[in-house]
Amino acid sequence: MTFTGSQFRDKYEIEPRTWYRNLHSVTEYFYFTRLIFSKFVQIIYYKNGVEMVKILLNYFLWVSLFGLSFGQVDYDSEIQVIFNNNCGNCHLGNSSGGLNLSSYTNVMNGGISGAAITPYDHTSSELYIRITLPESSDFDMPASGSLDQNKIDLIAQWIDEGALEVPGSNSGCTDPEAYNCADDFWSCVDDGTPAADCMDDGEWPNYTFLVGTTPYINGCNYDNTDPYDGNFPVYEGGCESGPCEGFYNPGATTNDGSCDYYQAPDQDDITFTVSGTGILVDWSAFSPPSNAIISGYNISRCTGGCAFITGSPFQGGWGNGGNTYTETSINDEFDWASELAACGDPCGGQVKYSINVRYSNAEEYGMAIETSYITPESCPCAVGDCNCDGVWNVLDIVALANCVLADSCGDIPYGCAGDTNGDGGWNVLDIVSLANCVLAGTCGG
Ligand code: HEC
Repeated sequence: MTFTGSQFRDKYEIEPRTWYRNLHSVTEYFYFTRLIFSKFVQIIYYKNGVEMVKILLNYFLWVSLFGLSFGQVDYDSEIQVIFNNNCGNCHLGNSSGGLNLSSYTNVMNGGISGAAITPYDHTSSELYIRITLPESSDFDMPASGSLDQNKIDLIAQWIDEGALEVPGSNSGCTDPEAYNCADDFWSCVDDGTPAADCMDDGEWPNYTFLVGTTPYINGCNYDNTDPYDGNFPVYEGGCESGPCEGFYNPGATTNDGSCDYYQAPDQDDITFTVSGTGILVDWSAFSPPSNAIISGYNISRCTGGCAFITGSPFQGGWGNGGNTYTETSINDEFDWASELAACGDPCGGQVKYSINVRYSNAEEYGMAIETSYITPESCPCAVGDCNCDGVWNVLDIVALANCVLADSCGDIPYGCAGDTNGDGGWNVLDIVSLANCVLAGTCGG
């Protein structure tokens, strides 16, 4: 991420409530300190008197703001004090709107509208929404005018750090692209039989990856193993006491290298190229998080049964050794036509590929996995269109002649299109009939 001083200021001016949230990692902090310092030096060299002082003051202000917003918010000394001084009898002696703000426990118990705080997410928190409404609104809190912006920002920061009673650890994963407590939830609506309803609608806890019908329920708050109950997600909690191990910690200033990632190539990132003897699977369009380290990809293919085509991730142990395939494509050579024929209805003509990204910290298979499907056709291209570009010309003749000479027509993508006389093989007769129809302009007719 590269910023300039002016972008920083724009950002601050446009989004005063969120600027520190976006710009608070330690790298960025050092970046800005450096940036501000170089600006400072520049100013001394290039600016004259009055303007110099003016700019310097501006930049010193930014530095001190950074200093203030740095480190984790302490509930008792920083947040409770705001409530005590601004929310008055309405929410201390009394519980207006059902909300009592006299202690951490009471705050977290919420009011008549439900939870006042959604940990890790200030924009979804009722309390934050109410203190940031326009003063003209009847619902703006405090009822008698607005809170100072710096108090509002502090409350937002406290919520985003997890709304903890005691500040969490200052060291942890500082990459927002890692697993994140703010996203570790189940948006299932509780209507009596919530879990079953949601799963019937295909709605699983976020961070659940469905591989066929097997759910990999990842994340920290939900699990299906303890007690094991047939893939039924169970809330086990974890994030309420601070970001889980490997999760993004918005309050951390030191990166301890623990980040766990969940991103894996899905259908949109993959191109499949079918040939007579296999399927080329290419996920080079997948862009993993920039700070993540990938130890390898585990690719499995299922037709009737499933097979690991880059070797089993469990061979040699997951943690030490295992598979370390780091290319971003693989030519999966197998007789898909026979396998799909043998599989019949269950496969419905589809080959399934699951790609598991094994990030350096991954503790187990399935922490970052997505599944894609391809329906290979016997030959996706028109007869004679040997490069499958939709037209017939000398390029097709050359492609066919080359593969006939190399005896590779059955192995290359689109080679199938070269069997122009339909006798199940490739030879000079196919080249002749293709050349004739190209010359006569009658191919495909
Ligand atoms: C002068 C009295 C008064 C003050 C001061 C006040 N409130 Fe309120 N607050 C109310 C009343 C009355 C309600 C219920 C009516 C409503 O929802 O607007 C309420 C409702 C709320 C609710 C919604 C509760 C729910 O579950 O519906 C929140 C959140 C809230 N206040 C937050 C605050 C915060 C935070 C402060 C201090 C920064 C504050 N209020 C200061 C009177 C006050």
